Amino acid sequence: MDLGLKGKRALVTGSTAGIGYAAAELLAREGAHVIINGRTAPRVEAALQKLRAAAPGATVSGIAADAGSAAGCAALLAAHPDVDILVNNMGIFEPKPFEQIPDEDWVRFFEVNVLSGVRLSRGYLPGMRSRNWGRVVFVSSESGLQIPTEMIHYGMTKTAQLSIARGLAETLAGTNVTVNSVLPGPTASEGVSTFVSDLAKAQSTDIASVERDFFKHARPSSLIQRFATPEEVASLIAYVCSTAASATTGTALRVDGGVVRSIA
Ligand SMILES: NC(=O)c1ccc[n+]([C@@H]2O[C@H](COP(=O)([O-])OP(=O)(O)OC[C@H]3O[C@@H](n4cnc5c(N)ncnc54)[C@H](OP(=O)(O)O)[C@@H]3O)[C@@H](O)[C@H]2O)c1
Repeated sequence: MDLGLKGKRALVTGSTAGIGYAAAELLAREGAHVIINGRTAPRVEAALQKLRAAAPGATVSGIAADAGSAAGCAALLAAHPDVDILVNNMGIFEPKPFEQIPDEDWVRFFEVNVLSGVRLSRGYLPGMRSRNWGRVVFVSSESGLQIPTEMIHYGMTKTAQLSIARGLAETLAGTNVTVNSVLPGPTASEGVSTFVSDLAKAQSTDIASVERDFFKHARPSSLIQRFATPEEVASLIAYVCSTAASATTGTALRVDGGVVRSIA
């Protein structure tokens, strides 16, 4: 299938690793002009080198900016005032019992996971609207539907993204600008892999046992009973960004290994 992405300018936040990098690579392979983002220049440069090797001939660039802050979003918008595709991928997670989550963490999670996408959408949507074409994708989570009791503050941010994406899509009714959420399930990204291997070390066991245990006890409803790969999630993101997905808007699409026990 031709995704019709040739020459489209795409910014993927938090794309030096994990789901963001996999999405950036797939978009670049499909001919989009991809902008990689991470917090530091060396990580951005390393991701760019990897991307150039994976998608030879693709037009790619990178910018070091903290997409979780107002200043970082302003820097992104100043360096790249117009994009056709915005993938609000960057997000943080941290398991913490509810009683131990201070106000500062609630505010920080809201700012990093929610306001980042709000600020960038506010900056990029006017251009998309005036050109009458655009794609905005919020990378939410199954945790936005099945709130994880071990990180309710994270779940809150992921539900908020669903609401924002739907609301924005409604403001764009009748245009060729679509706004959607993509909901991954547990995915073996850089952040999650580090978390799992730290846990394996702490429990003096191996990564495979931690994965088995996690799906047995923490995510028993997963139908694949394993972590998805970032590439599996990226496939759905790239499709939603494509011209082929022109009738898909205002919706929440799952790539969660069936962990959400709902058929709608
Ligand atoms: N992995 C999962 O199981 C899972 C499941 C459901 C949803 N999700 C969602 O998917 C998205 C990506 O998650 P992931 O697991 O792939 O992440 P990850 O492996 O932790 O990836 C981290 C990426 O985010 C970048 N990053 C972190 N903070 C940043 C900031 N303030 N500004 C710019 N870049 C920043 C990192 O760049 P540098 O380190 O170079 O700065 C790196 O490129 C998140 O929104 C997450 O909530 C993940």
